[in-house]
Amino acid sequence: MWAHAVAQPNIALIKYWGKRDTERNLPAAGSLSVTLETLWTGMSIEFPASAAGSTDISTERSAEGLANTDRLVVNGRRDSAMLARVSTCLDRMLGNPRPPAAVHSESNFPIAAGLASSSSAFAALVVAAGRAADLSIDAPALAGFAGAASGSAARSIHEGIVELRVRDEGIDVRSIAAASEWPLQVVIAITDEGAKATASGEAMIRSAATSPFYQSWIERQEADLEAARDAVRDRDFEKLGAVSEYNCLKMHSVMWTSKPPIVYWNEATVNALEAIRELQRTKLPVFFTIDAGPQVKAVCLPEASAAVSAALSDTAGVRKVIVSGLGRGARLLDEPPANSADGA
Ligand code: PMV
Repeated sequence: MWAHAVAQPNIALIKYWGKRDTERNLPAAGSLSVTLETLWTGMSIEFPASAAGSTDISTERSAEGLANTDRLVVNGRRDSAMLARVSTCLDRMLGNPRPPAAVHSESNFPIAAGLASSSSAFAALVVAAGRAADLSIDAPALAGFAGAASGSAARSIHEGIVELRVRDEGIDVRSIAAASEWPLQVVIAITDEGAKATASGEAMIRSAATSPFYQSWIERQEADLEAARDAVRDRDFEKLGAVSEYNCLKMHSVMWTSKPPIVYWNEATVNALEAIRELQRTKLPVFFTIDAGPQVKAVCLPEASAAVSAALSDTAGVRKVIVSGLGRGARLLDEPPANSADGA
């Protein structure tokens, strides 16, 4: 039996950059994000009928210890690069031995390019896998499994504005405002659709080991989270913008001071920041954030979104602009996701 799920990527305003425990992939500090509406990853998974529920069919293991009978197809092509992470995630959920899985993933946006594709992919994967394997897993456990695969994926289980807190026993993730409660808009300026040179997981381990700013970055996260949480509670856009830009620039300072340095920006990234600064000078309610990639995300109030989108479209080096509201959390679908956000 196939199970199908869809999830939307999320963009962090207070960033996750550093692990407390690499084995369990536990973040070193909390984070706060917005789940998008327009972008999505659909995930379909099947455990062959004869094998479902049985433990006597062992997954074959390669020399590296990875389940090599799982199959992964991403956007219509066999993908061996991501397969190990998918297999490990399924092992955590189902245990091993387990039946091998056939997994199909489809996204309507470029993957591994700083658009948080792993957040939607692993959130959708755990929801679909739980159903296909007939497990009953509650939302906190789903967030735990998603987060163990990709720290940011835990947040895509939930809708709207989402906070992730780190406790001794693991993560605690919840939505602190639904999309309808504060309908922010996100305008994404795509400056390069290619895959990034350094994966975020590897990059943040390098930052922890080498940046002289890393420790102070982690120690100050709680203060930024508190400011952002209060801003969301009070619907104080200016305060949310100030702490989000500050937190983003601190994270990139940690990246730049790592050895060797991690620089995801390009010329158009800087041009887009300038364009947003210019809009701010005209008192437009907009602020920026940038993740592990060269794309710039402008968060704005709905009335500003047309002007922000026009300004970023006109910015030198910006290839494409995507406008999104805030969206829902990961969920099951009756059928494979249709090729549109509405259909999803
Ligand atoms: O979840 P990962 O391992 O892809 O790391 C995400 C890192 C950032 O996007 C830069 C920050 C974040 O909190 O999403």
